[in-house]
This record gives sequence, C-alpha cells and structure tokens, in this order.
Amino acid sequence: MGSVRVISTKLLCATKAKAAAAGPTGTLARAWSVCLGRGVCSSPWRLQSSMSAWLVDQYGSNEVLKFSDETPAPTVNSPNEVMVKVHATSLNPLDIAMRGGYGAKLLNLRRDPLSVVNSDREFPLILGRDVSGVVVDCGSEVTHFFPGDEVWAAVPPWKQGSLAEFVTLTEFEVSHKPKSISHTEAASIPYVASTALSALVNAAGLCKDRCADKRVLIAGGSGGIGTFSIQLLKAWGAHVTVTCSQNAEGLVRGLGADEVVNYMAEDAEEHLETMEKFDVVLDGVGGDTEQWAMGLLKPWSGAKYVTLVTPLLHDTDSLGLLNGTFHAGLSLHNTAFQSAISSGVFYRWGFYAPDGPALDEVRELVDAGKILPVVEAQFPFAQVPQAFQKLEEGHARGKTVVRVAEEDEEGQSEEMGQSDGEYQQEAEHK
Ligand SMILES: NC(=O)c1ccc[n+]([C@@H]2O[C@H](COP(=O)([O-])OP(=O)(O)OC[C@H]3O[C@@H](n4cnc5c(N)ncnc54)[C@H](OP(=O)(O)O)[C@@H]3O)[C@@H](O)[C@H]2O)c1
Repeated sequence: MGSVRVISTKLLCATKAKAAAAGPTGTLARAWSVCLGRGVCSSPWRLQSSMSAWLVDQYGSNEVLKFSDETPAPTVNSPNEVMVKVHATSLNPLDIAMRGGYGAKLLNLRRDPLSVVNSDREFPLILGRDVSGVVVDCGSEVTHFFPGDEVWAAVPPWKQGSLAEFVTLTEFEVSHKPKSISHTEAASIPYVASTALSALVNAAGLCKDRCADKRVLIAGGSGGIGTFSIQLLKAWGAHVTVTCSQNAEGLVRGLGADEVVNYMAEDAEEHLETMEKFDVVLDGVGGDTEQWAMGLLKPWSGAKYVTLVTPLLHDTDSLGLLNGTFHAGLSLHNTAFQSAISSGVFYRWGFYAPDGPALDEVRELVDAGKILPVVEAQFPFAQVPQAFQKLEEGHARGKTVVRVAEEDEEGQSEEMGQSDGEYQQEAEHK
C-alpha cells in the first residue's frame, strides 16, 4: 500500500508540475502523460536535451558572457538529485570574480579531483549562484521534494550555475521556497543567507538562542550579505551595529540596525572606539578593516572576528594548489595565533556552505515577516550583461536579480524594491 501511495502522490505532483512549470512541447507532454512511475520512463524534462543559458568559455570581462539556446540541459544523474526549472536568480560579487577566473584552480579540483592537470575543462561554465524555481524531476531516492514543488537554493560554485533554464542540485542543497514572496524576491536570498549563516553560526558560534546579549558589528552593512545579516541577527535578538556609506543609513536602519557608522566620515574609527566593545565582528569588506576592527572586540571573553574576504582562492590561483593552500593556511594560522595571544580574540574565516536545512529556517523567518528580501534592481534574462555591469559598478544596496522565466512575475520594472521609509515601517512592525 505504502509504495502505491507514494507513486500516486508523485503522479499527482507531476500533474501539478506540468501546470505550474512552463509547459513542455506537445510531444514531451505526451511522454509525460504515459509515464507510470519513477524509473518506468523519462519525464519530459529528461527528454529536453538543450536549454537557454548565459555561459563563458573563457575568462575575462563582460564581453566573455555569451547567450546560447543550445546549451546541453542538465539531467538527474544520481538518485539524490533534483532538477529545477529556474524562475529567477541573482548576482553576487563571486559571479564577477569567477567570470574573470577567480578560484578556478580550487574549484576545478572540487569539480573533478582526478584530472587536476587538464586545463579549460570547466568550460562552458554557467555562472549564477542563486535559484528560485520549480522542481521538474527527482532522483529515485529523493524524499523531501516532488515535481511541482517551489524551491530555492544556493548553487555551490563548483556546480553549473543558475543563469540558465534548468539547474541540478542534490536534495540536501535545496529547500522549499517561502510562500509569502515571489520568485524574483526569493532569488535574492539563498547565497547570502547560506554564507551569513555559515559565518555567524559555524565561525562566530552564534545561533538564535545565543544572541540576546550579543553585540555584533557588521562591516559592510548595505550590500547583499549585510542587508540579510542585519535582519537575521535582529530576528535572533542581537544588538547590531553597522558600517556603511552615509546614503545607506536609511536602508540599514529600516532593516533594524541599532547603530550606524558612516565609514567615510573622518572620525569613523574614533566613533567606533567610543562604543561598548563587540562580541562578534562580521567583516564583509576586508583590507584595512581587519587592522582596526580586531581592536573593537571584547578581550579575553571568547569574542570572534570573522572575515568573508579571505585570500584562499586568490592564493591558490596565483601560487598553485599546494603552495597557495599552504600560504593561505599559514597566514590564517599566524593571524589567529597573534590575536589569540595578544588579546584573547578568535580570528576566523567565513565561507559559503551549501545547506538546504539552514534555508528552511530562513524560510520560516521570511514567511513570518522577520526577513525581507532587499532587491535593488532586476533585469530580464536577455540583459544578463547589463546586470553584471550594474553589480560591477559597486555600491550595492541589497541584491541584483535576473528574471529567468518571465511568465509568473508581476513586477517588471528595472529598478524595484521598497524605499528606505518602507523598510523602516516594516522593521517597526517586525
Ligand atoms: N567567503 C565567502 O564564501 C563569501 C561569500 C559571499 C560573499 N563574500 C564576500 O563578502 C563581501 C560582501 O559580499 P556582498 O554580497 O555583501 O557584496 P555587495 O553586495 O557587493 O556589497 C558590498 C557593500 O559594501 C559596501 N562597502 C564598500 N566598502 C565599504 C567599507 N569600507 N565599509 C563599509 N561598507 C563598504 C558597498 O557600498 P558602498 O561602496 O556604497 O559603501 C556595498 O553596499 C564580498 O567581498 C564578497 O566577495 C565571501
């Protein structure tokens, strides 16, 4: 009985998927209608051999981005994979860096550990690390997702990205999308959320039950990581101080920041030094910030400095895998050792980590209205190079989203998002 129930549920969901996702061709739809169960025949999506995607086949500036509607479509290749039809994605600074070849050596090792000496094997490479979309196919051991489910995920940098019609991920990397927001809004969250959670939980040792008496400083509060982290930490009950440009103060205060310091002001460092010391610094800026921000932490009390701007991929690119890893590891060890013995402060690197279950927790906060998507700009799929150009100009105020499937999104304007005042009003109601 159990297996019959499972099969009929899957068929029910498959029917839902056909209506929910952009429809396949007539032939493909017929193939679906004769499908009696997983493993009996291919779903129409398995028969789709090509798709539209933006890809690069060499590293460089924006000119290397190419559109192709004959990119091989991914398939479900292992029992724990799901294939997702992408409705929206967003860009991260990593996409610009990877377009130029950043991290290629280490990422290629992760992609294919057995053939490290082959060059260029990553091409054609599809960028895009966020996805909000609909499941169209599942491997035989997938238990949490069915075709037709609306999902969101952060695509690991070693996998083909989401600037494409379809993407394939493991079940562990995917989470059900919040119901209260659109695909365009949802696509702005997964990669920054996964990174912020990994940094704040794994590296800084924070969690929702251990934040009430914590003072956190976020260096770089107005971009993707900052706007998400402010809201997460406020939802967890922490006291949050943020550095950002003066014209971003309204935005970050609207998201809940308690104290805001204009990093461009001449007395910014003095201003920070007059404040009560912090339990955690989350550094999304790097460079000089490290020099002065370490001194703002409470000494000898388990305080942690976590930077997201690490030399690891840069070092492996320039020095090779072994030397680069050794060089970066040595610099981490030296700084961590120095800060531990001189002031009793922990120095750590924070990294993105794929984590569907963590996104489940974020979904609950989004659906409870405690975390708002901050979409600064959105672009149609035809204008991916313009979206890269926008991000490359810097001064992000939240996220830049690309609408991959247009049919289900109502707001089509290029610049969107709430005004600072609207964020302020929502923050007051959180
Ligand atoms: N390690 C990892 O796994 C990982 C993962 C994700 C991101 N990251 C890194 O984390 C950093 C932040 O990512 P993101 O997605 O938030 O980038 P983003 O969206 O581009 O935002 C960066 C923000 O920082 C502001 N800013 C620039 N200089 C600043 C300064 N000196 N002090 C304070 N704010 C400053 C910018 O605005 P203004 O210039 O107008 O001030 C902008 O709002 C990036 O370097 C990214 O590569 C690392």
